[in-house]
Amino acid sequence: MCGIVGIIGKRPVAPLLVDALKRLEYRGYDSAGVATLEEGRLDRRRAEGKLANLEAKLNEEPLAGHIGIGHTRWATHGVPNETNAHPHFSAKIAIVHNGIIENFAELRDELKGAGYAFASQTDTEVVAHLVSSLVAAGRTPTEAAHEAIGRLRGAFAIAMLFEDEDDLLIAARNGPPLAIGHGEGEMYIGSDAIALSPFTDSITYLEDGDWAVIRSSGAEIFDGNGQTVARQAQKSTTGAVVVDRGNYRHFMQKEIIEQPEVVAHTLAYYLDLANGAPKQIDSAIDFASISRLSISACGTAYYAGLIGKYWFERYARLPVDIDIASEFRYREMPLDKGDAALFISQSGETADTLASLRYCKGEGLTIGAVVNVRESTIAREADTIFPILAGPEIGVASTKAFTCQLASLASLTVHAAKARATLSDEAIAEMVHDLMELPRLMTEALKVEQEIVGLSRDLAHASDVLYLGRDTAFPLAMEGALKLKEISYIHAEGYAAGELKHGPIALIDEDLPVIVIAPFDAVYEKTVSNMQEVAARGGKIILITDVRGAAASSVDTLKTIVMPDVPNFIAPIIYALPIQLLAYHTAVFMGTDVDQPRNLAKSVTVE
Ligand code: F6R
Repeated sequence: MCGIVGIIGKRPVAPLLVDALKRLEYRGYDSAGVATLEEGRLDRRRAEGKLANLEAKLNEEPLAGHIGIGHTRWATHGVPNETNAHPHFSAKIAIVHNGIIENFAELRDELKGAGYAFASQTDTEVVAHLVSSLVAAGRTPTEAAHEAIGRLRGAFAIAMLFEDEDDLLIAARNGPPLAIGHGEGEMYIGSDAIALSPFTDSITYLEDGDWAVIRSSGAEIFDGNGQTVARQAQKSTTGAVVVDRGNYRHFMQKEIIEQPEVVAHTLAYYLDLANGAPKQIDSAIDFASISRLSISACGTAYYAGLIGKYWFERYARLPVDIDIASEFRYREMPLDKGDAALFISQSGETADTLASLRYCKGEGLTIGAVVNVRESTIAREADTIFPILAGPEIGVASTKAFTCQLASLASLTVHAAKARATLSDEAIAEMVHDLMELPRLMTEALKVEQEIVGLSRDLAHASDVLYLGRDTAFPLAMEGALKLKEISYIHAEGYAAGELKHGPIALIDEDLPVIVIAPFDAVYEKTVSNMQEVAARGGKIILITDVRGAAASSVDTLKTIVMPDVPNFIAPIIYALPIQLLAYHTAVFMGTDVDQPRNLAKSVTVE
């Protein structure tokens, strides 16, 4: 979380820093700041809230200078106000930081003892004072930075700027990503290549433990022991990302509507649509030889993985263990060397998912990364990348990444079923055919939008909402609840419909909307029985089903949303759409900040 940028340029850098920060706002948006050096003197502008506030401040009081650093924050230590916003200053140094300094309290006490006064509640200011104290003790800026970095515990990406040093930036990485960009007589630092895409496509990624001395002529990179290390510059494929929401009111709306198109790209990567077979793809995972697959992920990506578990087990007879990555990483689970693990992550930077990957790597498993950002840390550390090809997802609430994760996992299921010979060629061709139908059926499903707008108007008055589903609709129920709570701030829970009578049924009354996701499948009748139980207690049912399901249901509903009849295998990808639309329009009625909901960030690089 938090986005970092730094530029040593040939022109005024403050507007460039803000431009780069705009591309990093997905990492946090509770405050922002930039600092530059003009004629050897440090100055900064900081503002609480969105980047627009910082921009307004800079318009009123511009900052000159050809070297600078910038930051967009997602608060960990200290409330999101201007005082806690980065860059933080000590006597001769400005610093921006992403991550958590775990030993900050100990360092702060030591520095307070040495007479340093703390203006903010952040862990970052400790680093500024620490470097400053070392400079005051006679170290050069580079020596001070190296020594200070060596004393930090925790996960951090840092950029530093020094008074009287107009050709020096220092960057360090231990955990959260940090990229160095190479320009023509200019150099850049950014939390990712996207931030630097308007300036350069030549990128060097720092590895954990690396720190770098950056001057306008280039960068020298060192490992933790101070030894120079060679890190190859790569050509970034990010391009100057067009962050444009077209005619849509929000990025989230645009990203929901473009799903039929992006899912088609995903499928085309994995499947030979003409011949109804899996395509030859680069894969270090041999699905035929593994006896078990472990999946770890967080949030929406975890729900995608849960649906993947149903598919891999049902169609490829491949047992799957799936965990929330923050639990997996500390669970010390026994793993078999010959097996494989999949890590699902839109950003490819989620700290818990990355830690789980490293654990599995240490245990000798083959690692697959189901990622959107192909240059991310998770992608780079995996043996194999399974790209989801969703394109940049800007809305903080994941939508198209979810369906593209599902399309990738469904395609991998087809690959696994083929490799393990669990299905006939005809059955495999039928699955490929079903997947091929997705773009058309998704377009069809999106036509319920206007009906959902009406329903959302009512839902916006609810204080709690329950989502129910069975089989693959169970993870979807949890995803629906997550989507609603994160952008509308309405409390929502997703449950397996069969679990209702084991507790949650106590919540049912006439004020509780119950959204039931129920395609007409093998468990449909069971779900109808659960709906009867809700109806008997006065619960308001919103049923999302298909034409056959609507005809077969005998339960009175407040509203029935009818999806096209679709093959059971692909139903979760279709049913994801109405639940996304429902959350989106409810949030619009509530008047929340849909694309950047409170307290969240798009890339979660802290535990
Ligand atoms: C919810 C959402 C989050 C992410 C989670 C994992 O809409 O977007 O729950 O799914 O933070 O992020 P990635 O996929 O980047 O690892």
